[in-house]
Amino acid sequence: MREVRNPAHAPPPDDTDKFTMSRRILVTSALPYANGALHIGHMLEYIQTDIWVRYQRLAGNQCQWVWADDAHGTPIMLKAEAEGISPEALITRIKGEHERDIAGFLLSPDNFHTTHSDENRELAELIYKRLSAAGYIVKRTIKQLYDREKAMFLPDRYVKGICPNCGTADQYGDNCENCSATYDATALKDPISQVSGSVPEQRDSEQHFFALSQFGDMLREWTASGTLQPEVANKLKEWLEAGLQDWDISRNAPYFGFEIPDAPGKYFYVWLDAPIAYMASHKHLCQRTGESFEESWTPGTDVELYHFIGKDITNFHCLFWPAMLEGAGFRKPTGVFCHGFLTIDNLKMSKSRGTSITIETWLKHLEPEYLRYYYASKLSGSVVDLNMNFDDFVTRVNADLVGKVVNIASRCAGFISKRFEGQLATSYSEALLEDYAQFSSAQHIIMQYYEQREYGKAMREIMLLAEHANTYINDQEPWVKIKDEAQQDEVQLICTVGLNYFRVIVTYLSPVLPELAAKTERFLNTALTLPSLEQPLTDHAINRYKPMMTRIETSQIEKILEETKATDKAATAVNDDTASTQFEPLKPEISIDDFNKIDLRVAIISDAQPVEGADKLVQLTLTIGLETRNVFAGIKAAYKPEDLIGRSTVMVANLAPRKMRFGVSEGMVLAAGPGGSDLFILTPDEGAEPGMRVK
Ligand code: MSP
Ligand code: ZN
Repeated sequence: MREVRNPAHAPPPDDTDKFTMSRRILVTSALPYANGALHIGHMLEYIQTDIWVRYQRLAGNQCQWVWADDAHGTPIMLKAEAEGISPEALITRIKGEHERDIAGFLLSPDNFHTTHSDENRELAELIYKRLSAAGYIVKRTIKQLYDREKAMFLPDRYVKGICPNCGTADQYGDNCENCSATYDATALKDPISQVSGSVPEQRDSEQHFFALSQFGDMLREWTASGTLQPEVANKLKEWLEAGLQDWDISRNAPYFGFEIPDAPGKYFYVWLDAPIAYMASHKHLCQRTGESFEESWTPGTDVELYHFIGKDITNFHCLFWPAMLEGAGFRKPTGVFCHGFLTIDNLKMSKSRGTSITIETWLKHLEPEYLRYYYASKLSGSVVDLNMNFDDFVTRVNADLVGKVVNIASRCAGFISKRFEGQLATSYSEALLEDYAQFSSAQHIIMQYYEQREYGKAMREIMLLAEHANTYINDQEPWVKIKDEAQQDEVQLICTVGLNYFRVIVTYLSPVLPELAAKTERFLNTALTLPSLEQPLTDHAINRYKPMMTRIETSQIEKILEETKATDKAATAVNDDTASTQFEPLKPEISIDDFNKIDLRVAIISDAQPVEGADKLVQLTLTIGLETRNVFAGIKAAYKPEDLIGRSTVMVANLAPRKMRFGVSEGMVLAAGPGGSDLFILTPDEGAEPGMRVK
């Protein structure tokens, strides 16, 4: 069998290879959780995938995109409970919403399944049994936090307490936002269950572990073999050098998922069966098409397998998943394509800022192709974040798509239909053919950019062609020549050339703009394929031109933002998909004496600096009357240090100094919110002077 290389990092295959041998490719995107709406952040990944899949099909390869909803886990169980419905009813409803959004954004998966399916249960059991038979499943008794009121063991994100390392209150059970320490939930001081508000107890529990530590050699080789982007491989190398821990793949009842075959009351952890659903979705598809499922998943197969994922889920896809596949005797991925996060004006999307824009809201006001193009114009093959700025969005889309691309057709079409009965000119001159050849051969570099996921570069190449076409039409001035009886043939030729430019450009853009491509096919009365670009379209009847794309108005964006703000406010006020962060139960009651022990003071932030080596911390110099304090605050994701200087706030002034990795922290500023970028420091009303006691 042919050795499969990852073409994204290998030198591009030569043309003969590309056009004579059709590749067989399986593609996946990360499975969205079935407990909330898809938003424009998800869409970054899904558009990136769709463009790649459509490009592969355009290039003549057999490319299938298998995908699903991620329907298991505690958040889904609790959300269903909060709504008073069964988890099955919840995931069915959300799947319908996700499918609506997928169609709305013109995504073209071959199958959209669910992790809660028969195929996935069978495959998860099969993989588990094979791993178990090979000695890769080990049972160990560990201590876990148990909520007696809810009668459930608590996942890390459902417990908060005091960081055992730096003493910061209100930290999750897995890591500290303030000092970045990672720890076991049982190490938290004064833990509080986020589900019931009660104090959890420690209980012994027997769990099933996947012996990831036995796959170190394989993973060191696989991660360094060109399957991953260099920056991802480097990051993983650090991890691999530090040594791999075995992975707890079981969860105790109550849990929404698949029960482990030989362990009643224990369920597969959601992250065990989620990637297996890539296989399950493919199997489900094969049942429909009659193709062989096994062949694609057997080691040594020539079917290429690629996963598109966000950088936050790298470990699951680049360590756990290949090890599971290897351990169970299946093929491993050919490549994992990792992307960065969508930011809005350089900040994380957030409900409280009103930038968590759902697909449903977006599509009420704007066609999907604008965002598809904007993302394409900014995407590269790297893991860097992609920033969205709405002014830039409007300007770029209007200038490129309306001003440069569609303009070509609208300037030429009228003359052809009104003056030449829809007929294109009969032939090209030598010189024009030469010029056309340059256009049609640009496909090599453009297709190569698509292959490497360098969509931004591909879009720039295509826009250069569009500029060339517009310059040609400007120079030829068909609107002047049409008035001269002697130059009628000339005008027909100019417009034919212009429409051929348009045809080539839209073919190149078709992976990004499938609807524009479909409209163009109807208008030009021809299928847009790469081989057909070899010759210009001449002596051919086209259809009447209908406007293809209109300019975006800023008012449309304003409506999207307004509607998002309104729905987010409503959602956060009631209850929400991120139950763990929206509803924070009250802490146990305290006496007035307890309260009086806390000395709260108005403080002025006289300086604020980033802390080198700490992503989350800002070093604050706080002035309270005559004294100044040095405080490290975990607010970097929410504030730029320079924006804080000069503001007043409220601080706890009598907190015992704490030694942290970066220095001593002498107090704490007060802030509201779940954490991360959703954090708001408190500001006293005007008139409050530094040093005043807050009572
Ligand atoms: N259910 C898991 C994936 C399981 S795959 C076997 C999950 N779901 S998710 O809904 O949280 O995210 C789905 C994908 O969307 C992930 O790849 C994630 O990185 C991506 N994104 C979610 N928010 C995003 C942005 N703001 N920007 C870019 N991608 C984003 O993780
Ligand atoms: Zn800490």
